[in-house]
Amino acid sequence: MSEFIAVTPENLNENTFELIGKDWMLITAGDEKNYNTMTASWGGTGVLWNEPVSFIFIRPQRYTFEFTEKNGLFTLSFFDETYRSALRFCGSKSGRDFDKAAETGLTPVHEDGLTYFAEAKLVVVCEKLYAQDLAAEGFIDKSIIDKNYPNNDFHRMYVGKIVKCLKKA
Ligand SMILES: Cc1cc2nc3c(=O)[nH]c(=O)nc-3n(C[C@H](O)[C@H](O)[C@H](O)COP(=O)(O)O)c2cc1C
Repeated sequence: MSEFIAVTPENLNENTFELIGKDWMLITAGDEKNYNTMTASWGGTGVLWNEPVSFIFIRPQRYTFEFTEKNGLFTLSFFDETYRSALRFCGSKSGRDFDKAAETGLTPVHEDGLTYFAEAKLVVVCEKLYAQDLAAEGFIDKSIIDKNYPNNDFHRMYVGKIVKCLKKA
């Protein structure tokens, strides 16, 4: 397994439509004592308040939600196609019921109060800046509510400042 090298967000040179929307990512929060991870394919990266940021969206019933709430940092881990089945597992089973690392063979790396995965090709470390639930009154296109929130389980949006990017050479 090759080593990670640090790159600046501006030098990532990634198409995040592909990376997040098609390849998917693992959102992970917590430390060596307790952490959880889940697959996500909604979110983005960009610039806000003059900072490089990520945007992620987590429904309140996810076990991962408890960890993104409790911790100041979260990581986004991106993988090559080899790990698709691992991401499927982490996106369909809950950490309440399974040790996702043990089940998938992914290797958690814990450092400085955060967790990411050794098999990732890219890791983006984010510090929470802002969190707020999406709200029915905010939707201009109300059809999105019927399609996505029949149970009123609106995502919580987190804006995270990108503090570190680790890429495999
Ligand atoms: C491709 C894919 C994308 C997903 N994207 C999201 C997402 O952006 N936000 C979310 O809350 N759940 C998303 N999920 C669902 C969670 O990954 C899933 O409910 C997972 O089992 C939650 O695990 P947890 O309870 O251990 O947190 C996605 C699932 C898949 C398969």
